[in-house]
Amino acid sequence: MELTVNPVDRLQGRFCVPGDKSISHRAAMLGAIANGPTTIHGFLRAGDCLSTLQCLRALGVTIEETPDGIVVHGSGPRLRAPAAPLDAGNSGTTMRLLAGILAGQPFVADLTGDASLRSRPMDRIIEPLARMGAQVHALGGERFPPLRIAGGKLRGITYTLPVASAQVKSAVLLAGLYAEGDTTVVEHVVTRDHTERMLEGFGCRIQRVGSRITVTPSTLSSRNVTVPGDISSAAFLLAAAAARQGSSITVDDVGINPTRTGFLDVLASMGAGSEIGGRADRSGEPIGTVTVRGLRLQGTRIGGSAASSVIDEIPVLAVIAAVADGETVITDAAELRVKESDRIKTLAVGLRVLGADVTERPDGMVIRGGRLRGGRVEAGGDHRIAMAFAVAGLLAQGPVTVSGAETIDVSFPGFVETLQAVAGSPAVAALGKRSA
Ligand code: S3P
Repeated sequence: MELTVNPVDRLQGRFCVPGDKSISHRAAMLGAIANGPTTIHGFLRAGDCLSTLQCLRALGVTIEETPDGIVVHGSGPRLRAPAAPLDAGNSGTTMRLLAGILAGQPFVADLTGDASLRSRPMDRIIEPLARMGAQVHALGGERFPPLRIAGGKLRGITYTLPVASAQVKSAVLLAGLYAEGDTTVVEHVVTRDHTERMLEGFGCRIQRVGSRITVTPSTLSSRNVTVPGDISSAAFLLAAAAARQGSSITVDDVGINPTRTGFLDVLASMGAGSEIGGRADRSGEPIGTVTVRGLRLQGTRIGGSAASSVIDEIPVLAVIAAVADGETVITDAAELRVKESDRIKTLAVGLRVLGADVTERPDGMVIRGGRLRGGRVEAGGDHRIAMAFAVAGLLAQGPVTVSGAETIDVSFPGFVETLQAVAGSPAVAALGKRSA
């Protein structure tokens, strides 16, 4: 699909975004290994989470689709050996979290994915799962998928995360459910804590003391989960509004877990105004209504632990930095190079095509703000890059055409319609096949 987005003076509107991707994956996986049916309202029906469902079905789990979500019929911690390799598609979360569960199963399973996923490093989960007693082989070379996992008897370990990664933390904690003895993960940089919250909601004994998270092997009890809107999806529209003076956008019923709202702090450091109202609890996750108002933006610095807290939002933050006053320096974000694409490179190349002044660095980039001309860019098979460049179209002097934009369906079905609603439909035109 080619998506063409024209410049607009301001963005206005109030809407909801689809369910949180991270929470949807976790709800389906925990439901699959719990006892009894788990009803998940607002489950994100998008490429990545559908990959999780497909893998769980191949592991013998019955999943019903309902008008507003799914019901996962868990029959306890033991799954069925799959007849064929499990396909995680484009989804790193599916592969890494499922590897944690497979490590505790008494059978051999292969986990594969698309070309992008097969180029992403898996040594970060292979190492701790092997230390727990699983045999995990990277069939795509030293550290790349497909993975062959021969699960079995596991022992609890204490593991200090070498990279700030919620996926690695979650893989180890999920394997910990099957281990003998407690498993502790030490994280020096706080990462999203949805696994911990949801494990607790499913009746698991888990506690955090300082930087140490300890899980005690437990059997999970099914429950109902309502998934909040995905703040990382909302971020594209909120950031666009922040960069257009006079704009105001409100997103209702969106997750405001403090491990996910770092980008609102970055917007504030750039001069945008935001407020959160209507705070409530939804299945153990904080939700609220987020409003962002556009003002003249200044460049900023994003580094240290703040960089990891906005890792999924850096693509759109880089775009608005390109139209802000002054320089933005992003450091400590080397993880961006091993996401769905090498996001440092795809961003730098695309932003330059659009007229930005960008210098790539090994762990980030320097963006000297000014104007974006517009032009034609490639999504590079990366949903967040496609949406970030679509936002560039709203803020440039001329239209931006994003090719390969069907990849947006990996995380944000309905993005084009939401963009049309807040920018005015003439501003946005999609051509060609919609789904990835
Ligand atoms: C995710 C964790 C993050 C994030 C990804 C989703 C998760 O990845 O970038 O979009 O659901 O746990 P890392 O664990 O690689 O940082």
